[in-house]
Amino acid sequence: MQELSYDLTTLSPHDRYKLLISLVIPRPIALVTTLGRTGIVNAAPFSFFNIFSEDPALCVLGLQAKPGGGLKDTSAHIRDRGAFVVNLVDEAIGQQMNQCAVDFPPEISEIDAAKLSLLPSEKVAVPRIAEAPAALECRHYTTLEVSALRRLAIGEIVHVHVRRGLWDPDKMRVDMTQYRPLARLYGNFYASLGEPFTHVRQSYEEWAAEQKGKASP
Ligand SMILES: Cc1cc2nc3c(=O)[nH]c(=O)nc-3n(C[C@H](O)[C@H](O)[C@H](O)COP(=O)(O)O)c2cc1C
Repeated sequence: MQELSYDLTTLSPHDRYKLLISLVIPRPIALVTTLGRTGIVNAAPFSFFNIFSEDPALCVLGLQAKPGGGLKDTSAHIRDRGAFVVNLVDEAIGQQMNQCAVDFPPEISEIDAAKLSLLPSEKVAVPRIAEAPAALECRHYTTLEVSALRRLAIGEIVHVHVRRGLWDPDKMRVDMTQYRPLARLYGNFYASLGEPFTHVRQSYEEWAAEQKGKASP
């Protein structure tokens, strides 16, 4: 196979960013709400985000610094308040999510600017976004201060809200005909999920029997 390969030490951070965010796709989007010192609710999207464990239930946010250095509001609020909410993003709130990435001055709440509304959370003081299909209430677990410009904030998910109709509580299963999560690609590109399909996971015995079947004439 012909390929291009890169030693990351030879790439500028900007080119590393482009390479990694273009190849590791799709990524889910966390529209993170936090509380500032003045009580204004801050909302910002992060696609360096995923869940990594269920016991304890942990999610991670990759938080860069502001262009001129200094913590983004989300980073500072998580440090100061010890809590945040990950509001998951579907196609319906894609444009509003994008508006929340505008660099507003601190006295303007992204929630008002994007015409979103808030609901109280159950376990943390930080409100959640009513229009989000699901919300994960998180207590700050720890932050890895990777460098002056990069932090990985880990949250313990202590309460989950999911919109009625998206979730079957008896089967504990999502309804993929109703849940339309928005995926982040790179630059200004996004994608929706295509048609779901299955690959059934086999035990070793099932795999071995299948190989034997293929081998016999
Ligand atoms: C879809 C999307 C994904 C983003 N992902 C990240 C990310 O993973 N990490 C990051 O630091 N900034 C990310 N950003 C940029 C932040 O949302 C942006 O800097 C925001 O203004 C930060 O707000 P804050 O200062 O209120 O925390 C993303 C922006 C968009 C639109």
